[in-house]
Amino acid sequence: MTASRVDPLAGLPLLEDLPDVDGRKVLVRADFNVPLHWPDGPEGPATVADDFRIRAAMPTLDWLTGRGADVTICAHLGRPQGDHDRRYEMTPVRDRLAELAPGVGLLDNLRFDPGEKANDPVFVDRLVDGFDYYVNDAFGVCHRSHASIVGPPARLPSAAGRLLAREVEALGGLLAHPSRPFLAVVGGAKVTDKLGVLRSLLDTVDRLVVGGGMAFTFLAAQGHSIGSSLFDESAVATCRAILDEAGERVLLPTDVVVRRTAPGGGEEVEVVGPDVPDDAAGLDIGPATARTFSAAVADAKTIFWNGPMGVFEDPRFADGTFAVARAIATSSGFSVVGGGDSVAALDELGLAGRVGFVSTGGGASLELLEFGDLPGLVALRHAPNAAPGG
Ligand code: 3PG
Ligand code: MG
Repeated sequence: MTASRVDPLAGLPLLEDLPDVDGRKVLVRADFNVPLHWPDGPEGPATVADDFRIRAAMPTLDWLTGRGADVTICAHLGRPQGDHDRRYEMTPVRDRLAELAPGVGLLDNLRFDPGEKANDPVFVDRLVDGFDYYVNDAFGVCHRSHASIVGPPARLPSAAGRLLAREVEALGGLLAHPSRPFLAVVGGAKVTDKLGVLRSLLDTVDRLVVGGGMAFTFLAAQGHSIGSSLFDESAVATCRAILDEAGERVLLPTDVVVRRTAPGGGEEVEVVGPDVPDDAAGLDIGPATARTFSAAVADAKTIFWNGPMGVFEDPRFADGTFAVARAIATSSGFSVVGGGDSVAALDELGLAGRVGFVSTGGGASLELLEFGDLPGLVALRHAPNAAPGG
């Protein structure tokens, strides 16, 4: 896929574009890849730790069942390797779904069958057998060319569900008509995963804030010492090219919270910066950086955030992520937040309700911003009931 800046909503068949669903069997692909909790340890039964993604499917399920459709959902959970795996059984999800949407069925984990990831046409045929229509509401998986995402629209009249349409509208709107200044805040550990989206964001955003583990490869590219912080040698040249091209539009940490071994053993936490001593590892942005980043957020009219600023699961390294989360929640600009960790940080502060749009997709939201389109959306535009030329 090449970067297109077409409206990703254009040509996408919506629920209204399905024939009458009354009495019809509808297969809904949802993203119910939710965190689980094992109250009695790994041998006991699991419960759903966060049902955000299940609740997010309710507008579509209500629309369909309210019009008399017989609805069955297909979904994946975790990353089983194409075989049955007790840890990834759908039971806890099914239990929660039964409370929210009684009468709606849920198939076994799609990834128990190798045909799902392989996009095997025989698996697609079996999946759609007996169904009249297909609805994709699994935004978080639309960047995957898996059988349940790209297969059914070639066989059945199909539609994007309400959640999928809202996601595409919110993220597509960032690219098409952002109020300026437009700021992107990107963090997390894996720099190589995000280089493509960073380059593409720099075509659109006014400023790019880089924090988290990935910032150290950028700092190294600038010639700073980074001690034993996260580092990806293979990304240095690209980081340097991005910095050369973007100049002052990219904001990097100027101070860092590090952990080092104390002289008598044990651990010390201190603020250095931006150079990190050899015996230390940077695990959060420092307080001066948190202020600079928060001020940049406060200046922006549009904000996109993906990825934490540090290892925020550890309270000693949470301040940077929480400062950014608070700045985004209190901003008067329009904010879109994607990715499980960023959303978890907002949730921990009780601030998820204070951002403009919380995406259910991590990788999918980044790929939509990077490429302007996703395999799951392309497939829907080619469904038999989609407008010609879509
Ligand atoms: C997610 O949780 O990001 C989506 O459900 C996709 O899952 P995957 O990254 O295992 O494909
Ligand atoms: Mg993921």
